[in-house]
Amino acid sequence: MSLWLYTNILLFVIVIFDLSYPLTQLPIHIVLGLSGLFLILFNWSRHAVFSTIRNATDRKKKIRLANISKRVYPFHRWVGSTALVLIIFHAGIIFHRYGYHSANLKLWSGILAGIVLLLMVLSGWLRLYYPSVKKRRVHIYLGLLLFFMVAIHTSIF
Ligand code: HEM
Ligand code: HEM
Repeated sequence: MSLWLYTNILLFVIVIFDLSYPLTQLPIHIVLGLSGLFLILFNWSRHAVFSTIRNATDRKKKIRLANISKRVYPFHRWVGSTALVLIIFHAGIIFHRYGYHSANLKLWSGILAGIVLLLMVLSGWLRLYYPSVKKRRVHIYLGLLLFFMVAIHTSIF
């Protein structure tokens, strides 16, 4: 499978191991953040599957992956939109509990990741109803940017 799939899994595992709370006592805003992250990485794995289909030389493997991709497709839009709703609650609870501290890098990296997620979901719905090559490219590049933004937000700062 493509390198992206392993990168997605690796990021999720690092975030789980690096949490500043014990796993059995996670506050609700962290559970929401983790669930949103999982859904985002699940959707971003579509890129991994598509590149593997493009690069595979084995016809059987191509067909098998294309069938998996077709089965997951109806859920793609709802998985992405649900991630946005979960992250809005994640941010809402954080603002409610901690208030706003402009010097907090965690907060700023989160806000930036949240904005990219919003654009990602918008570009997805626009792409669905008014498809174009440009929108396809925007959806993929925003996905790449979103991956790095969530990686910075969850594991670096
Ligand atoms: C794509 C969007 C987002 C994802 C996937 C996400 C995910 C996460 C995850 C998994 C955590 C817990 C792990 C860790 O602390 O490293 C976390 C913590 C945090 N997030 Fe987000 N987040 C997102 C957007 C936001 C937004 C919009 C804000 C703005 C309020 C925000 C603020 C924070 C803060 C302040 C923490 C630390 C909370 C604490 O340690 O109690 N995040 N985020
Ligand atoms: C977390 C949010 C999302 C991520 C990370 C994401 C990621 C991706 C990726 C990687 C692809 C394959 C790119 C390609 O090679 O064409 C794709 C395709 C697509 N996405 Fe999203 N997406 C998200 C949300 C959405 C939403 C909310 C919609 C709403 C309709 C949507 C609609 C589409 C459509 C129509 C396609 C092309 C059809 C297909 O994949 O077969 N996406 N997305």
